[in-house]
Amino acid sequence: MLEAVVLAAGEGKRMQSALPKVLHPVLEEPMLAHVLRALTGAGLARPLVVVGPGAEAVEEAFSGQAVFARQDPPRGTGDALRVALDHLGGDGPLLVIQGDTPLWRPETLRAFLADMAGKGSGLASAEVEDPRGYGRILRQDGRFLGIVEERDAKPGQRRIREVNAGLYVLDRARARSLVTRLSTANAQGEFYLTDLFGLLAKGEPVEVWRLADPAEMHGVNDRRQLAAASAILRQRVVEYWLDHAVSICDPATTWIGAAVEMEADVVVDPGARILGHSRIGRASRIGPMSEVTDAVIGHSCRIHSSVVESSTVGDRVTIGPLAHLRAGCVVGDDVEIGNYAELKNTRIGPGSKAHHHCYLGDAEIGSGVNIGAGAITVNYDGRAKHRTLIGDGAFIGCNANLIAPVTIGAHAYVAAGSTVTQTVPASALAVARERQRNIEGWADRRSGSRKEE
Ligand code: UD1
Ligand code: CA
Repeated sequence: MLEAVVLAAGEGKRMQSALPKVLHPVLEEPMLAHVLRALTGAGLARPLVVVGPGAEAVEEAFSGQAVFARQDPPRGTGDALRVALDHLGGDGPLLVIQGDTPLWRPETLRAFLADMAGKGSGLASAEVEDPRGYGRILRQDGRFLGIVEERDAKPGQRRIREVNAGLYVLDRARARSLVTRLSTANAQGEFYLTDLFGLLAKGEPVEVWRLADPAEMHGVNDRRQLAAASAILRQRVVEYWLDHAVSICDPATTWIGAAVEMEADVVVDPGARILGHSRIGRASRIGPMSEVTDAVIGHSCRIHSSVVESSTVGDRVTIGPLAHLRAGCVVGDDVEIGNYAELKNTRIGPGSKAHHHCYLGDAEIGSGVNIGAGAITVNYDGRAKHRTLIGDGAFIGCNANLIAPVTIGAHAYVAAGSTVTQTVPASALAVARERQRNIEGWADRRSGSRKEE
């Protein structure tokens, strides 16, 4: 049976980071997430990931999406392959991919596997302008001889522009017999997986599969390559959506995550970032400088310079400018959320309005509710969070404080400036504020006393 192995145990020294290399984000998702998604798309879900320094963090981030084997200490890619072979057992072909090459497309992996089927062992190569950092493919009269790593290459070999893409198919039995013959007699003192292909080539022809788009094998060893990976992927995703009925007003400043889904006639304005597993419905507009992460947005919505996180928004909703929907909000159809409004873990029913400067946290708000400017659900008493319930058609006046836990009945009114601590019955008016007192002539007396000084 074909199985996949991801090599992700390297120390990532060139990143100079406390974070394991494969957790560094490319287009705001950990590098390894991209590799696992490509594998899943190629029919190889739940691969074996070889992990090393920082293994716990990687295992936690991807638990359930992969199985893990630890390489301790990491002694090179050949040693990582040995760990994988020991862990997997069995026979049949192995697809080996690197955790630091996040730009593979699933269709490319499929094509590679289809072409390699029944051919034993092989690897992918690419012809590049600048081969620096990659292993060079050595050939004699066109026949593959082996791979030489840059640091071990002679000057003449360094000029070779055909490089090892870091994607391999291996016959497990052959690999098992050869992996023990790898040595550390090289510039890095490591067991090189690449040497295994030199050994193989001594006994049998090795298939080398030419990659059509060399950008796919882009490897990330340092922060420049990390930034370049994001840039390549960002451009790729933007172009995909331009070809799929989405208008992107300024492609150069737009970030759309690789897992985002959008329907026809969505418009994305300059500087917008749509990330995570967000889904944007037909004809919605994601306005300038908005950030939408892991959110589901209905159709014909308008989100203007606002932040929406892990929330579900209905149809024809307007949000912003400068509103913030934090995690756990469920917003009904035709809701209007205005300037400087903040919502958290709040459900707000169809047609409700919260136009200005409000905070609605841990609240259950019905339909057709009007939340006045500056109204606040006081959900935190310093120890615990409490819920606020607001019935259908209620009207919350400006600058009201609703001290949770509290219930405002349907069609009730809360007078502006009230601090509400008790249930307001349906259709009642709650007034909970100091009665106004006017002191006649006060200002005149004050200025008079000033003149006398
Ligand atoms: C490797 C290849 C090189 C190829 C390039 C493509 C080798 C020796 N060289 O070089 O020919 O052109 O990738 O990107 O394989 N890893 C482990 N355990 C280890 C060491 C590394 O799991 O002990 C993992 C790393 O986490 C990484 C991958 O293997 O994901 C590649 O290792 P890296 O050190 O980045 O190899 P390169 O120098 O890029
Ligand atoms: Ca690498």
